[in-house]
Amino acid sequence: MKIGALKENYEGEARVAVTPSSAGHLKKLGHEVFVESGAGVGAGFSDAAYQAAGVTVLPGAAALIGDVDVVVKVRPPAEAELRQMRRGQTLISHFWPAQNADLLELAREQGVTAIAMDMVPRISRAQKMDALSSMANIAGYRAVIEAANNFGRFFTGQVTAAGKVPPAKVLVVGAGVAGLAAIGAAVSLGAQVYAFDVRPEVAEQIESMGAEFVYLDFAETAQDGAATGGYAAPSSPEFREKQLEKFRELAPQMDIVITTALIPGRDAPKLWTADMVEAMKTGSVIVDLAAERGGNCDLTVPDERIVTENGVVVIGYTDFPSRMGAQASELYGNNIRHMLSDLTPGKDGVLVQNMEDDVIRGATVAHDGDVTWPPPPPKVAAIAAQKPREKVKELTPEERRAKEIADFRAQTRSQVTLLVGGAVAMLLVGLFAPASFLSHFIVFVLAVFVGFQVIWNVSHSLHTPLMAITNAISSIIIVGALLQIGSGGGLVVVLAALSVLMAGVNIFGGFLVTRRMLAMFQKS
Ligand code: NAI
Repeated sequence: MKIGALKENYEGEARVAVTPSSAGHLKKLGHEVFVESGAGVGAGFSDAAYQAAGVTVLPGAAALIGDVDVVVKVRPPAEAELRQMRRGQTLISHFWPAQNADLLELAREQGVTAIAMDMVPRISRAQKMDALSSMANIAGYRAVIEAANNFGRFFTGQVTAAGKVPPAKVLVVGAGVAGLAAIGAAVSLGAQVYAFDVRPEVAEQIESMGAEFVYLDFAETAQDGAATGGYAAPSSPEFREKQLEKFRELAPQMDIVITTALIPGRDAPKLWTADMVEAMKTGSVIVDLAAERGGNCDLTVPDERIVTENGVVVIGYTDFPSRMGAQASELYGNNIRHMLSDLTPGKDGVLVQNMEDDVIRGATVAHDGDVTWPPPPPKVAAIAAQKPREKVKELTPEERRAKEIADFRAQTRSQVTLLVGGAVAMLLVGLFAPASFLSHFIVFVLAVFVGFQVIWNVSHSLHTPLMAITNAISSIIIVGALLQIGSGGGLVVVLAALSVLMAGVNIFGGFLVTRRMLAMFQKS
């Protein structure tokens, strides 16, 4: 198939849907790749760079749309672009079907298959195609950089000869993809980071990144993300009041506030009110990532940077990914090529619109002269699916003491039973087995017991490397096999040789797996 990337005509848009490197991958799928001349200039990819990667550069959108089978772009298509498309052609781009009903109807009329990158379901298998996440990740990072650029102080605390500098305090509201990226960037710059989200399951994630989760004194647990496709559900008015109360308390202390709270398909909830902005210190910065949907902050003006009367900077840019055009194009280009890879299962350049596939079905908003949006819910549970932890009942000191005594008794009882059972078994074995067997058997039983006790106390996350290394050590078996290999008996030699082979695989495999596992925990 012929795949062609259009030049974005939206004012100031720097991204492009195909990069020279993603074009290479598309060609491996059996496709021919085209770009409109100048499409990559904003992201730093010249026509020559595309040509060097084997991409054909065509002058103008009309020539490209007329020539290719699949049109790819970043922003939703302009009406004029869609009108130039013909029946049977495929369009892959952001589409926002809920907000673009007319465009959807036009796609249906034109008989175009429209695949919306913003509709890729949030399931594990689709992560590589999840353009919203890859763009939100960039937006979260960039929000911190933008905040730092507007903040007249350090992020990190310092003790210098000239004086002591406290670390900047950053509050991130909404810990989805953008929020977590912002937390990561702010922590790595040395700020003291606080974060809040209505989904309690993210608290652990926030804390593991070095930020502090802001807890509310409130009984309601937000609906877990599984039922809503990995997204939050709206919270009750009482919960919102508690949340605002907490934010009011935090506002005077915070230097930077990054808001990313959003529930898809709804306007952004107002969480940072005018009085909170007023309570902030002069020089503080608010970056409102939800500006596109009205903003989380009362004072946000979409696409603008304003300074309030009390000197707080409020940034409402809606084009953060485009401000990092090269990086955003690289990631979006990869999302597109992964989508095309799923659409080309035979890697033979033939597109298969498999409407039984959760991801393809979820993202296809128009197909074969029909509107196919909204899609049925995916058959696979969302990534965020995680059971909310059950609340543990608080015990009084007396109850705790009684429970400890009962636990101790039960433990002692089971240990004594085990010991007695073991002694009886030993006696029985001793009565019938030869003496040499008994001594080996005792060593074996003790080894099992000690090994069990040691491994039982190792944290779960370290079990794989631990098992790998014990595999390697336990391959002491090889010594026994080597002793037997020279015995002369045909069967014994074969068995010993097999043992050497398998123990060898165990030893080298064990060390290899351990190395790989440990490398995952090492900072490069
Ligand atoms: P997401 O859905 O992964 O995260 C949103 C988070 O907000 C969720 O964790 C949700 O639980 C939380 N949330 C919802 N209501 C809340 C409330 N009342 N209080 C606290 N938390 C609440 O979304 P993602 O992908 O992280 O995007 C975040 C925002 O960034 C969106 O508004 C998106 O449109 C915006 N965005 C902005 C860009 C820009 O250039 N300005 C670029 C990309 C994304």
